[in-house]
Amino acid sequence: MEKPAPTLAPIHSLIQHRWSPRAFKPIALTAPQTHTLLEAARWSASCFNEQPWRFLIANRDQSDAFDTMLQCLVPVNRAWAQNAGLLLLAFAHTRFQRNDKPNRHAHHDLGLAAGQLALQATAMGLQAHMMAGIDIEHIKATYQVPDDFDPLSAIAVGTPDDPASLSADLAERERAPRERREINSFCFSGDFDKPWSSKP
Ligand SMILES: Cc1cc2nc3c(=O)[nH]c(=O)nc-3n(C[C@H](O)[C@H](O)[C@H](O)COP(=O)(O)O)c2cc1C
Repeated sequence: MEKPAPTLAPIHSLIQHRWSPRAFKPIALTAPQTHTLLEAARWSASCFNEQPWRFLIANRDQSDAFDTMLQCLVPVNRAWAQNAGLLLLAFAHTRFQRNDKPNRHAHHDLGLAAGQLALQATAMGLQAHMMAGIDIEHIKATYQVPDDFDPLSAIAVGTPDDPASLSADLAERERAPRERREINSFCFSGDFDKPWSSKP
């Protein structure tokens, strides 16, 4: 299923067609596909070119590693993410490697890298679905995560499937229209509280 964004201004087709499906065909990603996704993340911009992201990955053809990572998701996410071709856990390195000072842009930069990975997935006929619903303490214990790495999210990547493959409640959410707030609710011009307008 495709679910292009109903945009109010023309945007690049890649951005329009990225979305977060829950229905995935249970097909492992190939090694070159995984490499390309990670390469897209690698070339993201970052503060001082610090690249403060770290991804743990588990392909569905590595069944033990995949199951271990699946257990790091909250049950409601596990229910659909179990069909992903690739799972990732995303961590922000919260201290600069250059001087060990706090990096307050680490989460910003991780998000940008994850966004590039997601768009690359769309370009490859795949989709990436990010998840905040993770068990942080379980992740820290399972992977012995150092204190200066913040487990932030998980990402399921795969080939979208028909929503009919989902349970009834998930299928309903899968078919729901995609919605966004108006631009003038988050863009302002002149004054902090003066909404931006597309009309001059
Ligand atoms: C950081 C982040 C955390 C998210 N957490 C979850 C999650 O735990 N479970 C889930 O089903 N979707 C999750 N989502 C997906 C959002 O619900 C989805 O991006 C949003 O509804 C917009 O839909 P779209 O991505 O299809 O445009 C998350 C997305 C992001 C970026």
